[in-house]
Amino acid sequence: MAQIIDGKQISKQIKDELKEKVAELKEQGIEICLAVIQVGDDPASTVYVGNKKKACEYIGIRSESYELPEETTEEALLDLIGRLNGDDRVNGILVQLPVPEHIDEDKIIRAISPKKDVDGFHPMSVGALSIGQPGYVSCTPAGVLALIRRSGFSIEGKECVVIGRSNIVGKPMGMLLLRENGTVTICHSKTKNLRDVCKRADILVVAVGKPKMIDASYVKEGAVVIDVGIHRDANNKLCGDVDYASVEPVAGAITPVPGGVGPMTIAMLMKNCVESIQIQAFAKDQES
Ligand code: GUN
Repeated sequence: MAQIIDGKQISKQIKDELKEKVAELKEQGIEICLAVIQVGDDPASTVYVGNKKKACEYIGIRSESYELPEETTEEALLDLIGRLNGDDRVNGILVQLPVPEHIDEDKIIRAISPKKDVDGFHPMSVGALSIGQPGYVSCTPAGVLALIRRSGFSIEGKECVVIGRSNIVGKPMGMLLLRENGTVTICHSKTKNLRDVCKRADILVVAVGKPKMIDASYVKEGAVVIDVGIHRDANNKLCGDVDYASVEPVAGAITPVPGGVGPMTIAMLMKNCVESIQIQAFAKDQES
């Protein structure tokens, strides 16, 4: 029987720690503010944005909402980001993705000041992570790392296999595991003998985007299996990229879906907002 890694409980613990920290900062006269921008009214985005604002409220972070119509021009959005970049009262800027098709997503990501890039998507943030400098780390991989660490597993010297090479999850996940001294392999759609590579893993992070693709035949006995996927199966039930029923008897530890990685993403966004104070102080230091 695998240990179930409870993302709901761990994320609650992290949010409570952050709440205390934010209260301490408030006593020193420091208030944290996150600007959240949504363009259009995609229902899934509205739910995500609502959850982010709720988390801010719980922790004591002020959130400023910008709900822009679908037809907002790229120029207008860039203009708003420029204003928020220059506003000292705003610590973090988040543009909910996806943006409408007429807006260039990469341009938007690059427009957000790296000092306020609490999503960790800016090329400067990704670069800082890869050379071990202070910067924001993308929330989902940061959440996976926190789950592994807080469940008591060490990474140093372990065979770590990541399936998926997206800019938001797979690549930063690989960098984080490497930073923790894991031996890291990143697999993707062209990887040969995927099953054999996965079977070597002490820590297997699955972000393939295919429902229940990874069954027990990919998993070494006792491995820590982290499932980043979220889908609805044929019965409309939530499931991950991992076939939980198949893998759970083989794994040493496993994250459920829902209740595994999902709740950690927002907790890490909140952590990035709190860390913005140090990152902005470091940047100021470098400038002077
Ligand atoms: N859309 C889906 N996930 C995310 C996320 O983590 N950040 C942003 N900005 N948009 C998203």
